[in-house]
Amino acid sequence: MEIAALVLAAGEGTRMKSDVPKVLHPLLDRPILAYPLDCIREAGITRAVVVIGHGADRVESYLSTRGVEIAVQDSQLGTGHAVMSAASLLEGFEGTVLVVSGDTPFLRSDTVRALAEHHVARGAAATILTSRPPDPHGYGRIIRDESGNVTKIVEHKDATKEQLAIAETNSSIYCFEAARLLPAVGKLDTNNVQGEYYLTDVIELLVEAGEVVAAFETEDRTETMGINSRAQLAEALSILQRRINDRWMEEGVTIMAPDQAWIGKDVTIGRDTWVGPQTLLLGSTSIGRGCTIGPNAQVIDSVVGDAVLIEQAKVRESRIESEATVGPFCSLRPGTVLGTGAKAGTFVEMKQTEVGAGAKVPHLSYMGDATIGEGANVGAGTITCNYDGVHKYPTVIEKDAFIGSDTMLIAPVRVGEGAVTGAGSAISKDVPPDALAVERGEQKNVEDWAKRKRSTGDGKKQANG
Ligand code: UD1
Ligand code: CA
Repeated sequence: MEIAALVLAAGEGTRMKSDVPKVLHPLLDRPILAYPLDCIREAGITRAVVVIGHGADRVESYLSTRGVEIAVQDSQLGTGHAVMSAASLLEGFEGTVLVVSGDTPFLRSDTVRALAEHHVARGAAATILTSRPPDPHGYGRIIRDESGNVTKIVEHKDATKEQLAIAETNSSIYCFEAARLLPAVGKLDTNNVQGEYYLTDVIELLVEAGEVVAAFETEDRTETMGINSRAQLAEALSILQRRINDRWMEEGVTIMAPDQAWIGKDVTIGRDTWVGPQTLLLGSTSIGRGCTIGPNAQVIDSVVGDAVLIEQAKVRESRIESEATVGPFCSLRPGTVLGTGAKAGTFVEMKQTEVGAGAKVPHLSYMGDATIGEGANVGAGTITCNYDGVHKYPTVIEKDAFIGSDTMLIAPVRVGEGAVTGAGSAISKDVPPDALAVERGEQKNVEDWAKRKRSTGDGKKQANG
C-alpha cells in the first residue's frame, strides 16, 4: 500500500492570540509541528506534503530541513480548503492519503500503522481515527446510524445538544483513498456556523455516494489531543513531561521532582543518574551513568559522560567527559570540551575552550578560545582577553601550568608546560615551559605609615568617612 501524508498546518491558531503561527509554538524543545512529522517518519511514510499558509515564511523556513513537500493555502478557509490547496501535488497519486493535523503532537506511529491496516482491511474510502477524550469540548462528534455505521461528523459549534452528548470524537487524523478524497473535497460548501470548507463534511459526501467509511478508535485518550490554546499547550507539555520522565525512571534514573524536570524526547540518560529540580535536558543531549544533574541545570545539545556533576549551570553544545564537575553557577557555551575529571567551577564561563583531563578552572573565570592542557590549574579570577573588539585570538595553557589568581591572558598567548604566572599579572607574551612570568609593579612597604596617619586628625576623618 502506498501512503502519502498530508499535514494541515496553515491555520492561524486564533485561540493562541499570538504573532507566532500555532504549529511553531514550542512544545518542550521543538515546535508542535515537529511531533506529527516525526511520527509520520517513524511510521515509515516517506512522502509528506505540508499545507502552510498563516505565517508561511516562518513555517517554510522551519520545514526547510525536514524533507517535505509544501503546498500553500493562501487564505485559511477551513480544513477542507487546506486539502484542496494540496490537490495539484496529489494529482495522479493513486494510494492512500494519511491526513494529520499539525497541532496534534501525541500521535504514535503504531496507531498510524494500525489505522492504515484497518483502512485497507475494510476496503474503505475513508477511515477516521476517533477517540473518547476526557473533555470532548471543541472536537467534532462522530455520528453513527442504528447499525453503528458512521454517517457524518458534526463540528462542536454546529452540533445539537444531543450530538454534543456523544463521547466519540474526530481526531482530525484520517486515511483517505486519494482518488475518492479529491473529487469529494471539490464538492464542499461553507454552509456551517464558521462559514468554512470543513474536511469533516467529506465523510457525509462519501457515505451518500455509497462509499465505505470506517472508524478506528484509539484507547489512548491523550493521543489525539489537538492544541488550540495556551492552556492546552501547557497541558500538552505536562503530559509529554510525565510520559518522558516515567520512561526514564523505569530505565533507572532518579528524578527528584518529576514535575520540575523537563527532558526532551531525543535525550538519553544512563542508569543511576540523579536529576534534580528545575532541570532541563534538551535537544540532542546524552547523559551518562551515575551523574548528578541539577538542581537548576540546563543541558542543551551536549554530550555528558559518566559520574559527571553539573549543578546550577547552563551547558550548550559542549562535551563533558566522565567525572568532570561543572558549577555551581557556571555557563559552558558552544564548543566547550571538559576532559576526564576536569573542573569548571563557581562563576566560570567558557566558550570554545578545551580543558584537558584533570585540569581545573575553579573560580570566577572567563575562558574563551582557550586550550588548557592536562593537569593545569587556573587560579581564581583569571580571564582570557580573547577579543580586541574586532578579532578573537587563541590562548594556550600547556600541561601542568599554574596560572596565578587574577591573571589576564592577553591573547594570542601561550603559557608553556609547567610554567607559572604570578598572581595579578597581565600576560601578553608567551611564557616558556617551566618559567615564572610576573608582570606587576613591585610592592613598597612604608613603615609605620598607618600608625602615623591614625595619630593626625586627617587620619580620623578618613577612618570615619
Ligand atoms: C478539527 C476538526 C474537528 C476535530 C479537531 C481535532 C474540522 C472542520 N474540524 O477542528 O472535527 O475534532 O480538528 O483536533 O476539520 N488548518 C489549515 N487551514 C485552514 C484551517 C485549518 O491548514 O484553513 C489546519 C490547522 O493549522 C490545524 C488543522 O488544520 O493544524 C486543524 O484546524 P483547527 O482550526 O485546529 O481545527 P479544529 O477546530 O481543532
Ligand atoms: Ca485543532
